[in-house]
Amino acid sequence: MTKRPFILKKHDMVDDPNASSRKSDHINLTFQSQTNKSNIDSRFYYEPLFQGHPSKDIIPKFELAKKIMNAPIWISSMTGGTQYAKKINENLARACGSFGLGMGLGSCRGLLESNEHFEDFNVRKFLPNQPLFANLGIAQLEKLIFQKKLNTVKDLVDRLSADGLIIHVNPLQEYFQPEGDKFRMSPIQIIEECCQYLNFPLIVKEVGHGFGPKSLLRLLQLPLEAVDFAAAGGTNFSSIELKRLDNYNPNPLELVGHSAEEMVEFCNFIASKNNITTKKLIISGGVKDFLEGYYLIGQSTLPAIYGQAANFLKLALIDLDTLEKYVDAQLQNLAMAYAYLTVKTSKFE
Ligand SMILES: Cc1cc2nc3c(=O)[nH]c(=O)nc-3n(C[C@H](O)[C@H](O)[C@H](O)COP(=O)(O)O)c2cc1C
Repeated sequence: MTKRPFILKKHDMVDDPNASSRKSDHINLTFQSQTNKSNIDSRFYYEPLFQGHPSKDIIPKFELAKKIMNAPIWISSMTGGTQYAKKINENLARACGSFGLGMGLGSCRGLLESNEHFEDFNVRKFLPNQPLFANLGIAQLEKLIFQKKLNTVKDLVDRLSADGLIIHVNPLQEYFQPEGDKFRMSPIQIIEECCQYLNFPLIVKEVGHGFGPKSLLRLLQLPLEAVDFAAAGGTNFSSIELKRLDNYNPNPLELVGHSAEEMVEFCNFIASKNNITTKKLIISGGVKDFLEGYYLIGQSTLPAIYGQAANFLKLALIDLDTLEKYVDAQLQNLAMAYAYLTVKTSKFE
């Protein structure tokens, strides 16, 4: 065999067989790829000097309920007790297991009285080492308090091998839901009672309206594992309930609440002025994408992760492969953000 009469160099065509078509693409696509200064994302300092291309290991780990998450991403509470719930929950839980994320189950109310839908929620086996939380609403907890049966919640958490319980606070949803419950006690009394009698980690969340500053102050002063915003600006449960009626009649109360960004500001202010006991946040509700999540985490002075519901639901409804490809892409993108972007906080650093 004759020896090749040249030494291969990095940019030779042999090493880079697409070079010619790439160069031609560059020329052809230039005029469709002009950006507008007003579209520049000015939330970050872009610092391209200080890292090689990152692996996912650059993403910081996060501890919640003594479990370690590989990324600050939370799959927010969704479903159970309906036709598709088992598959959706299994897909979500498997993705959490594969990528080291944490998740909240949808309302486990049905399991308080019967095991009929237990398998819809029985996902611990798919995420053995990540945080998994059961979920109940204020109305069910109030009922259990009146019946002096709060201990059944412990049994529920044990049956699901969950790390704790998420309490959802949803007065507007209950108000708009045709079969909704009305609370007799205030939600804070019910939550305080739960803190006193339930000796496992508790998270408190809304379902799409978020919390104002006085509510956040009270929550952050309790011994919770975390406060989950479930802020306004994404899935809107008041609208969902109103749209379940035959004739959708919009109600201006649908649109009240606080965005995740505003809630981060509230929490930063509260944490700077008060002694607080709860120090972890799940920033959720209308978090559009990984970059918004990264930005909001960076804005928060309290340790935080970001959560999404609808975005994950869309993909979990398709299949596990589609969901896992999406999560993988989110993590790769997030790694790039950690490598090259610094969140602009109020002062220039
Ligand atoms: C189909 C669906 C079902 C939900 N069910 C529950 C629930 O049972 N308990 C709960 O706390 N939140 C529930 N949520 C609210 C979500 O956890 C989340 O707070 C809300 O959707 C806002 O997040 P997003 O804007 O990323 O969707 C549900 C959301 C969706 C989309």
